[in-house]
Amino acid sequence: MRDFDMNMLIKPHLVSAPTYAAMEPPEILAKKAGISENQIIKLNGNENPYGASPRAIAAVKDVPLHIYPDPKQILIREALSKYTKMPMDFIVAGAGADELIDLIFRLFISTGDKVLDFEPTFGMYSFGARLAGGSLELVQRDENFDIDIGEAKKNCDDRTKMVFVTSPNNPTGNIASKSDIEELLELNLIVVVDEAYYEFSGCTVQELTKNHRNLIVLRTMSKWAGLAGLRVGYGIMHPDIARYMMEIKPPYNVNVAAEVALLASLEDSEYLLSNVKLIIRERDRMYNLLQEIPGVIPWPSKGNYILCEFDENQAQRVYEGLASKGIFVRSFGSPRLKDFFRIAIGTPEQTDVLVKVMKELV
Ligand SMILES: Cc1ncc(COP(=O)(O)O)c(C=O)c1O
Repeated sequence: MRDFDMNMLIKPHLVSAPTYAAMEPPEILAKKAGISENQIIKLNGNENPYGASPRAIAAVKDVPLHIYPDPKQILIREALSKYTKMPMDFIVAGAGADELIDLIFRLFISTGDKVLDFEPTFGMYSFGARLAGGSLELVQRDENFDIDIGEAKKNCDDRTKMVFVTSPNNPTGNIASKSDIEELLELNLIVVVDEAYYEFSGCTVQELTKNHRNLIVLRTMSKWAGLAGLRVGYGIMHPDIARYMMEIKPPYNVNVAAEVALLASLEDSEYLLSNVKLIIRERDRMYNLLQEIPGVIPWPSKGNYILCEFDENQAQRVYEGLASKGIFVRSFGSPRLKDFFRIAIGTPEQTDVLVKVMKELV
């Protein structure tokens, strides 16, 4: 084969696209800490410490792997319709909320279109915007990490097509008010409200999708239902958008194991929601324990995680100290969050170990 420059063939905006800083798997984390995998305390992915529903685990064992899944997602959308109390034609499922974010970019964003992102927030929106060749407009959240509608408006022009709002926000844990979302909807942009942590917050704007065709609400089974490894999430949106999403998605995007696990999880939602209650109770206990450590400021959270603020230039040292003991939390590259890290809510036993080690380190 003749020598050629691969970069000449790659789309120009992807030649140096920054990648998403994804987490390493437990086996690699354990290796780095020099301990066995079952000794690590993994609090960096907002995963569910109680795992999946036993009924979901049993269902996955029996699934015929040689048959393609249903491209129309009929059973999934019926079950989600019952769970969310939204009509079935408002629902589209994806391989995690991440895939839905990707589909939203495919549907709406062409090279040069502007996308507003309230920083700091979940990194997949800026990642998606860059992959799509969109022009990213980072609007800083205010000093309480609330979204600033005035700033958003100032940053809008006729190329602005979409805005992302995470509620509760990851990693800061705060909710966006319904009135702020309504104000954004009036701008006639596509407004994506990411409610990945809905079951922990109890707050949703899903009803607004009935009267606002420009609203997309995202949810996931990764957090409350403990299915992060299977990759299944869904969006709630007016059928005028849902129809397009169903048309452009890869036909078999939700795999058969994820499908049966989702169905079994929704059948077992009482059990899973009782675990959510345990996590919320533990979140409040951990918040109080962290508040007692001098030099640590925990931020109130409606998610299954707490953002912690440290004295200047201490966060990285504490982060590394925890990692050396096999406790993994999430730090961030952005200058605004250099003195912070995020801790997922684990079991009470994990909280106790974490707090003990943090007291030694801070
Ligand atoms: C705000 C937010 N949205 C979406 C996701 C991704 O969810 P999924 O696992 O369904 O792709 C996450 C995962 O951490 C998240 O924090």
